[in-house]
Amino acid sequence: MSVIILGIETSCDETSAAVVADGCVVKSNVIASQVEVHRKYGGVVPEVASRRHLESVNVIVAEALEQAGIGFPDLNAIAVTYGPGLAGSLLVGLMSAKAMAYARAIPLVGVNHLEAHIYANFLTRPDLEFPQLCLVVSGGHTDLFYTTHHGNYKLLGRTRDDAAGEAFDKVARVMGLGYPGGPLIERQAQDGNPKAIDFPRAYLEEGTYDFSFSGLKTAVLNYLERARRTGQEVSIPDVSASFQKAVTDVLVDKVMAAAGEYHPVGIMLAGGVAANSALREALGVRARAGGYELTVPPLVLCTDNAAMVACVGYYKYLRGEFAGPELNAVAAKGLGLFVKR
Ligand code: KG4
Ligand code: ZN
Repeated sequence: MSVIILGIETSCDETSAAVVADGCVVKSNVIASQVEVHRKYGGVVPEVASRRHLESVNVIVAEALEQAGIGFPDLNAIAVTYGPGLAGSLLVGLMSAKAMAYARAIPLVGVNHLEAHIYANFLTRPDLEFPQLCLVVSGGHTDLFYTTHHGNYKLLGRTRDDAAGEAFDKVARVMGLGYPGGPLIERQAQDGNPKAIDFPRAYLEEGTYDFSFSGLKTAVLNYLERARRTGQEVSIPDVSASFQKAVTDVLVDKVMAAAGEYHPVGIMLAGGVAANSALREALGVRARAGGYELTVPPLVLCTDNAAMVACVGYYKYLRGEFAGPELNAVAAKGLGLFVKR
């Protein structure tokens, strides 16, 4: 008998529902992106996002069940993201999940969004062995974790200011590329020279696994401003490639330094920025050279989706970690789930 979980994700600007069997068989993964709505504002507008989730959530859940060829009676549990994210957006998914679980009298499982990003890896590689090092790079987070078993995390380092994805989005905006910036910068960088401009890399003090990207972002802004003042021509591909290289250099160096200290069997990459091919490639090369297996989710599972939520739901279901009706949305970053070293 398989364990069938319905996952629901509404933490930011994607309304998603998925049906996953046994934590690794994705029966459906329906994602309704609001990107077109928010693009004209240059970023996610929280009130607009929650309203959109409200309009979509029931339709998306129905579609996920239909594509999976099942109905509510076939579900063993409902897993839902409760944070971190936008409070109003989280509440829509959470309240829907609570109502459905209550109506069907099946368990509700609360899922941390960061843990869901990490589990995009277990979705396709349930065989992965521990310990693993995991770099979560998204629009809201840049966190490096060490994990020795399911559901257990040690936070080794995190960004002290901007998240990696946030830096991509902000730099893209000042270059007039649009939103979301990550994929647009990646595309421009393909025609650029990563060595054209020597942007700063913030390694911070000796031995820390924390990150900082705001200095790099300011350096790019200053470079563009100086060019504008002096009438110097700017190559968007060169700026993009040099910026992307500065971000990936620091990420890769820090992950490899942590690998040298913690000796994991493998390294997992997760979150929206894990879709970046320059990062995947650079980390892949260094990981292989160090004898570590690098695991990266398929592109569609890097950015927000409910299959990864259902995957966490499966492991928590097996452990009997269920949520009560009092489960609340938690908007704050760095939920108490992870313990800082
Ligand atoms: O994980 P995600 O979908 O949402 C959050 O939980 O934040 O990540 C979105 C972030 C955005 O900042 C976006 O620009 C970035 O991931 N991103 C990328 C790429 N695709 C998405 N950054 C760099 N290269 C990409 N190909
Ligand atoms: Zn995310």
